[in-house]
Amino acid sequence: MAARPFIVAIDGPAGAGKSTAARRLAARLGFAMVDTGAIYRSVALAARRAGIAFTDDAGLARLLPGLRIRFEPPPAGDPAAGQRVLLDGEDVSAQIRTPEMSLGASAVSARPVVRAGLLELQRRLALAPGNRGAVLEGRDIGTVVFPEADAKFFLTAAPEVRARRRCDELGARGEAAPYERVLAEQRQRDRDDAERAVAPLKPAADAVLVDTSGMDLAAVEGALAEAVGARLAEGGRRR
Ligand code: C5P
Repeated sequence: MAARPFIVAIDGPAGAGKSTAARRLAARLGFAMVDTGAIYRSVALAARRAGIAFTDDAGLARLLPGLRIRFEPPPAGDPAAGQRVLLDGEDVSAQIRTPEMSLGASAVSARPVVRAGLLELQRRLALAPGNRGAVLEGRDIGTVVFPEADAKFFLTAAPEVRARRRCDELGARGEAAPYERVLAEQRQRDRDDAERAVAPLKPAADAVLVDTSGMDLAAVEGALAEAVGARLAEGGRRR
């Protein structure tokens, strides 16, 4: 039987540099990339559109089984654009990135019914036939989704650094937001993510901790690639 794909888990708070590191690492290794935050964001968007409150467990439970969420590679010639997120066939990549959907994702992700309902999808996307490996980016990949991951990282950075990065990212998309507001919303999300009862944000005991505050993107990617390279050379953790 073919070995299962090599799994890389990258967890950490918003703005720690996970997305870029995960995207670059996946491209470098030829692995699939699973942005699990985009999945929670898509659920929030679908709930908003269906008029279902983010706290309505029964409504969310009805909504989940019918949702078709998938990823497509970035448009040819523009790899930096990142992969596109499709919700029921519609490209919602931009719509899920608004501040409202950031808070919505945080809210729905605190509901156990949603977390349980999305476990299978996350695993299936990573283990899809044809994947040599997968890089999953999120909050609980190393602790809940793939406790047996071959390589685990927990990225952090000072709150001010993370908020500045988010501002730059929003600015680059033409959605400039005041730094103070971004920082306040981020603090709220950090609190919600760390304090929720189910799958709170915390490093797996065996994750490599990386503080990216003083690192540029190339340095973060380099550090992760080196650690993954060493694991790949060992043949992965469990094979
Ligand atoms: O990573 P991103 O900012 O897109 O995630 C949006 C929100 O989704 C996070 O603030 C978090 O509340 C939630 N999330 C989660 N578990 C994951 C990924 C995201 O709870 N694995």
